[in-house]
Formats: sequence, C-alpha cells, structure tokens
Amino acid sequence: MAGTVSDWRPRDTLIKLITRANNLACPIDGLKLDRIGKQLSCENGHSYDIARQGYVNLLPVQHKRSKQPGDSKVMVVARSEFLDSGVYQPIADKLVETVLTLLPADGETCILDAGCGEGYYFDTVFTALGELAGERASKGELSLIGLDISKDAIIQATKRNRQTSWIVGTNRQPPLLDNSVDIILCMFGFVSATGFEKVLKPGGKIVLVDPGIEHLKELREIIYPEVKKSAQSGSRTTELPGFSSLKTEKLRFTTEISDVTQINNLLLMTPHFYRASKAGREAASRLDTLAITIDVTFRVFEKT
Ligand SMILES: C[S@@+](CC[C@H](N)C(=O)[O-])C[C@H]1O[C@@H](n2cnc3c(N)ncnc32)[C@H](O)[C@@H]1O
Repeated sequence: MAGTVSDWRPRDTLIKLITRANNLACPIDGLKLDRIGKQLSCENGHSYDIARQGYVNLLPVQHKRSKQPGDSKVMVVARSEFLDSGVYQPIADKLVETVLTLLPADGETCILDAGCGEGYYFDTVFTALGELAGERASKGELSLIGLDISKDAIIQATKRNRQTSWIVGTNRQPPLLDNSVDIILCMFGFVSATGFEKVLKPGGKIVLVDPGIEHLKELREIIYPEVKKSAQSGSRTTELPGFSSLKTEKLRFTTEISDVTQINNLLLMTPHFYRASKAGREAASRLDTLAITIDVTFRVFEKT
C-alpha cells in the first residue's frame, strides 16, 4: 500500500477529511476541552488561548521544569532546514509505511506525535493520511495531534500544515482524554510509558524510533575522537511497562552531505553540539563534505 513519500499526490487535493482533535483535555483537571471562540475551555472554567499561529499551549507552569523547556529556536530551525533537505527522507518513508500498517480499518482514529519537534515527520504522515482520508470518509474521521514541550518547535510546526492540532505540552502528562489515542509516534524523543499508557486506547500502538549504535558514527568520530565505539549511543528502549513488543525493524543507509550549511545544521540539531569540546566543534566546522551512516531502529509496542 505504501509507496515512497514523494509518490503521493499534491497536498492540495488531500486533507479535507482530517479533522481537528476532539480529545484535548485540560492539563489541570483532565476534563474535556471545548472550543469557545478563540479559546479552549473546560467545565471548571480553565481556558487556553488559541494562538494566532493556530497552536494551543497546554503546558501549565507547574508542569515545567525550566523556563523554556525543550529544544531551543536555534536547534529547531537547524533541524527544520536539515530535514527539508531530504537526507532523512527514507526514515519518513519508513514511518509512513509503519503507520499505514497499524491504522485501524474504521472508527474515529487519533494519532499523536509525542515530541513532534518542528513537525517534519508528522507532516509526512499527514500528507500520506490525507490521501487515504477520502477512502476512509465513511469509516470514521482521522485526527492528528503534534505535541512538544518546546514552544519554538510547535510554532515552527504550524508552518507545515494547519489541520494538525499542534499543542505545547509534555509527554509526561499528555493533555488528552484517557483511552482516546490509537497510535503514538515517538521519534528520537522522550518516552513516558505511563503518560502514553494513560491516553492510548486498549490495543493502541506506540511506534518508537531511536538511533542505533552506528547512527552518525562518522560525525561522532570527528567530534569525539576519544570516544570508543562501545561507549557511543545506541538504541535504548527495548521494553515498556504496560506494553508488549510487536516488532523491531532496522533502517540503515549511508549518504553524503556536501553542503557546509547542512553539516552545521546536523551538528546543531543534535545534542552533540552541546556535548562536544571546542576542538571537536572546530573540527566539524572545517568539513565541507561528510559521509554519514544513518542507523535507526523502529519498534512497535501494543498496550496490553
Ligand atoms: C531529538 S528532538 C526530536 C524531534 C522530532 N521527533 C524529530 O525526530 O525530528 C526531541 C524533541 O522532544 C522534545 N521534548 C523534550 N522533552 C519533552 C517532553 N517531556 N514532552 C514533549 N516533548 C519533549 C524536544 O523539545 C524536541 O523537540
């Protein structure tokens, strides 16, 4: 069923049947939020403005651990530019393929991207699902929710499409009604088994995408020459309490980046920029081409 992302038809013929999420919940008391004018409000009178860009901030101060949590604007813009260059498109294609195999055949369906960042991957899913929405029109509506703790990331994501419900919030306590989500995507992000378990429907799925041991090894060898392979990052989550593992698949390919700006963006969008020494960063800044290995693990879990 799934082709590559670029096979799908132009977006303006799509999408009309993807609806706004109707399962947003008040982050203070968990009650359903309804739209009243330019706000979302719960029965207890807690109200949240819909920003002019279309997103809603459902991250109350008591859920924050720092003043500006999550990725900074610099990281967000670098990631957006890098991902738009298409280097990681095979990851997006694989994600779409995975989501299409998990999509319930009918009924009202909600997909959450938990830690969606600036929205590149979820927008690709949106485009693919928009294509399907016509076929599914009589079988139930589709809604998409992109959630991230970084306000800058969510503002950037709103530029990708306006039909996704873009929300500032935390994966620890997703501001959604219990048992209301069919599929959660968590790509290179922060996993909260309890938060995810609470909002997923029984039998709901998580698609977890993590870097494998070889991921960006060439870049890491340049910026951390002292690091041994065994100490480098690898896939982390193999078990999630409350979930059974359905499948694990690897995606591995090599590619070359020959654009200095994109090499710099790659560095800026990863934690490596902040962890590397000055000498490591300088070594990376002298590169004008970089061959990289992309090594990513896709895991699917089911709520038991
Ligand atoms: C490595 S980035 C990945 C972004 C996106 N999934 C992607 O693959 O392009 C991790 C994202 O998780 C967000 N994040 C960190 N802690 C979070 C939390 N507790 N809840 C929601 N998002 C969080 C960050 O702001 C950042 O956008």
